[in-house]
Amino acid sequence: MEEKLIQEINEKTPILDLVSEFVSLSKRGKNYMGLCPFHQEKTPSFSVSPEKNIAKCMSCGEGGTPINFYRKIKNISFEEAAQELAQRAGIQIKQVNVKKEPFEKEFKLMEEVTNFYQFNLKHSEKGHDVLDYLVKREVNDKLIDHFRLGYAPPFGNTLYQLLKDKGYETTDMIKLGVVKQSDDGSYYDLFSDRLIFPITNPKGNVVGFSGRTLNKNENAKYINSPESVIFKKGSLLYHLFEASSAIRKSKQAILYEGFFDVISSFGAGIENGIASMGTALTKDHAKLIKNMTSSLVIAYDGDSAGLKASEQAISILEKEGLKIEVLTIPEKMDPDDFIKAYGPEQYENLFAEFLKDPYQFRYAYYKMGKNLQNANDIQAFKLNVMKMIEYADISIRAIYIKKLADDLGIPIEELSQTKTKPQPKPLPKSDRKMMIDRHTRAEYYLIFAMLRDKKHAKTIQKQLKRTDFADHVASSIRSKIVDYYDDHEFLVLEDFLDTLPQEERAFLEDIILNDWFWKIKVEMQDIEILDYAKLVKEASLKRRLQYLNEKIKLSGDHPKEKDLNERDQVIKDLKHKPREV
Ligand code: GTP
Ligand code: MN
Repeated sequence: MEEKLIQEINEKTPILDLVSEFVSLSKRGKNYMGLCPFHQEKTPSFSVSPEKNIAKCMSCGEGGTPINFYRKIKNISFEEAAQELAQRAGIQIKQVNVKKEPFEKEFKLMEEVTNFYQFNLKHSEKGHDVLDYLVKREVNDKLIDHFRLGYAPPFGNTLYQLLKDKGYETTDMIKLGVVKQSDDGSYYDLFSDRLIFPITNPKGNVVGFSGRTLNKNENAKYINSPESVIFKKGSLLYHLFEASSAIRKSKQAILYEGFFDVISSFGAGIENGIASMGTALTKDHAKLIKNMTSSLVIAYDGDSAGLKASEQAISILEKEGLKIEVLTIPEKMDPDDFIKAYGPEQYENLFAEFLKDPYQFRYAYYKMGKNLQNANDIQAFKLNVMKMIEYADISIRAIYIKKLADDLGIPIEELSQTKTKPQPKPLPKSDRKMMIDRHTRAEYYLIFAMLRDKKHAKTIQKQLKRTDFADHVASSIRSKIVDYYDDHEFLVLEDFLDTLPQEERAFLEDIILNDWFWKIKVEMQDIEILDYAKLVKEASLKRRLQYLNEKIKLSGDHPKEKDLNERDQVIKDLKHKPREV
């Protein structure tokens, strides 16, 4: 956007009116003062100067021109802020500059659905039972409204009928997963007789739902909207948009496991809670948080699953450079249970008493339940701790070496000698990428294609044997993708990642999804896939040839007939020179 245009937008946006939408101000001389919306304070230091047309906090320094103020308070990009303010000020921006809001149609439909569920919670007979349930769980009207909770009626296709009457397209309803088609061709609502939690994207548009059953006999406690063009669980956090101003003020976010933890916490006055939706935390989640704050408390359930998930979350979050603390809830409770049992004040006290830094947390976690007289336990404990401090700062290493030596009852020197010498740092990502040869690259590309589309997976399965992959991790993942498609039409990445052991999961997350194509959403052409498959085949054949040559050489004058025949065949296959890519 041109400098001149930016200036015009700023000039035509009176700062006083703009700030007044978000902050209550009172006049002081030429200026206006209010409580800073960007940090927590008791006495006003946020100053607005109509004369200079700027607003700035004297204490934390946040603020600036109208566009700058607006982008920060709404947590949007400069570009978006400028466009919105231009529109308000009636400034025409050339068509090329105007980014049309994508998915407008989809958001409108989801908004309609949200309203429908909200209405049914408050104004239907069955909805009243759900309200009673919420009252029992101390979810009051204010919370119900803030979280836009709703109720999906049990009658099969009420929502479908309503949307149809309002002129929405059935294909859109299906695409967004609110309606499904049964085998006989009729349409029915995905959610039936469930308490509904609308899920927003970071801009506040409802993009999906999670529905909790109140029926104890029901198998699935929660069901989620399926992944769609606007609903991607791996890059959405529950309540992130709604919590954004509280997160900014407290300069911290709290990450929970469950929706009810976020809600109870909010009710207890802690408003900066967010949650992932029953899936493991991803790099994208970490990035979303990082955009808003650099400090995060993990407050997962206190049971063993919660502790394990905390340990996994730490490593993902730390990689994005977030400062992490872990709240361990006593008595294996979840935050919601704890607040119910001990009240909001005790809950706040936990943050003073039970916060651990990542090292404290992991050390305690690794030690938990271990018998330090048992050789296997000693081994496992030691290995975990040594791995934890492998790249840690020297002072941190010193602390944990000492702790470990104390716990194991051995002299410190025994531990520090073996492992304190500086460890080689792992190569930076960019170097690693450059070292990949084109065959490996082709293998990665094919894995990526298989994740994308069942059709591609089928092609690759047909073209290549399992042993054609040189990278054993890639090869194992390849088989698992094939298995996954046996009973799924689409691969939901989060679900799939959850099924993998740690090594394979890390491989996919680091190499394929983040460093590679996933981000740029390239279209994959069949012909390209065949090319890559040929390249992998070629490499595999060359490996086989080398192996056979050596075997034949070693057998001297008596090579096996079978090996000689296979070698001929391999050489013949190799002559069908694969296309270059
Ligand atoms: P309450 O049991 O009502 O207190 O709910 P909760 O939100 O505390 O749920 P819980 O601690 O059992 O689970 C944590 C989160 O995991 C939930 O908020 C959901 O996001 C997710 N989750 C739990 N059960 C299921 C399930 O059956 N299916 C799916 N897809 N997600 C689930
Ligand atoms: Mn719970």
